[in-house]
Amino acid sequence: MIINVVGARPNFIKISPLIREMNKNKIPNYLVHTGQHYDWNMSGAFFKQLNIPTPDKFLNVGSSSHAKQTSEIIEKFEKICLKLNPSIVLVVGDVNSTIACALVASKLNIKVAHVESGLRSFDKSMPEEINRILTDHVSDFLFVTEQSGLDNLVNEGFTQNSIHFVGNCMIDTLIESLQESEKSNILYENNLESKCYFLATFHRASNVDGPNELSDIVNLINKTSENLPVVFPVHPRTKKQIMDFKLKLSGDVITLDPLPYLDFIKLLNHSKLVITDSGGIQEESTFLGIPCITCRENTERPITIDIGTNILVGSNMNDVGAKLPGILENEPKENKIPPLWDGLAAKRIVKILKQFV
Ligand code: UD1
Repeated sequence: MIINVVGARPNFIKISPLIREMNKNKIPNYLVHTGQHYDWNMSGAFFKQLNIPTPDKFLNVGSSSHAKQTSEIIEKFEKICLKLNPSIVLVVGDVNSTIACALVASKLNIKVAHVESGLRSFDKSMPEEINRILTDHVSDFLFVTEQSGLDNLVNEGFTQNSIHFVGNCMIDTLIESLQESEKSNILYENNLESKCYFLATFHRASNVDGPNELSDIVNLINKTSENLPVVFPVHPRTKKQIMDFKLKLSGDVITLDPLPYLDFIKLLNHSKLVITDSGGIQEESTFLGIPCITCRENTERPITIDIGTNILVGSNMNDVGAKLPGILENEPKENKIPPLWDGLAAKRIVKILKQFV
């Protein structure tokens, strides 16, 4: 049996094609949701739209400090592994649930499969970077989305036979959902015309947890909305900080609650440009050919810059504001779709895992 683990919003998008493929291949699988994300629009809506089966076990850990959240997952997940004794635990991405469950499995001598392995920002101040490095180093199957992942793993001494370049499960889901997303009324509901608005998303701790950083972001969004409407679906972490720091978004900014997957994809696909600090959106925009401005000092997904639409502008929002007009005046970056981002990543992964179940 394979135990599949999810906890946070981007995990749901990646697990969906994997479970479908495991079921097609009649591989017994069991889904654990740690409960790291729990609001309907951060979790339930994704299960519904992406046809992910109801989790077999919900650990209900909720939000807390990194140590508390991670340790609570560890304690609860160990009991499940001991009871079910799976042949493989599969984890995705780089969130706290990923490292917590990978660690439990490896200590019980259960094989660990890590989907989205090898990505590195080389910035250990990011909690996700710690999660990536540690998860990879306790994993047996390292499933990689882009060339940099292969290079990083080889540089860190992994043997070639544990590394598998398979493509990108997030893009599998995007390809599968594009047509359906067109049925969303999100543009109509917000009085938006295709290619006549910007989309903004910010949730990374380094950008939103400090009053000065978040204030600069709010100013940037307000200023940008003087030219074209800016649609800003606000992550709960960001919403809380905006309220705590008493910041004000201008009336021209269309603020929305976090969106269900299909609405978000429609909004992204019809935007003129996206400004973000997300990891997944860098990939989705590259696939869709939508210009992406990433407000971070680094990215663990360099392929999106090398051949995609992504432009890394740093996290100093005054610099970003100064660079933006130039970016908008220039022709959009030419982009290519990265190798193996073809909708078949889950198929390749399951084909490999099948031999070990
Ligand atoms: C987590 C991941 C991050 C990922 C992001 C995607 C880690 C370390 N971080 O960050 O890598 O990019 O998910 O969204 O694992 N909250 C709610 N409702 C929810 C979930 C969270 O209100 O359903 C609020 C809580 O106030 C919580 C805060 O959001 O304290 C942050 O949630 P948390 O899961 O700790 O981190 P994210 O910022 O969501």
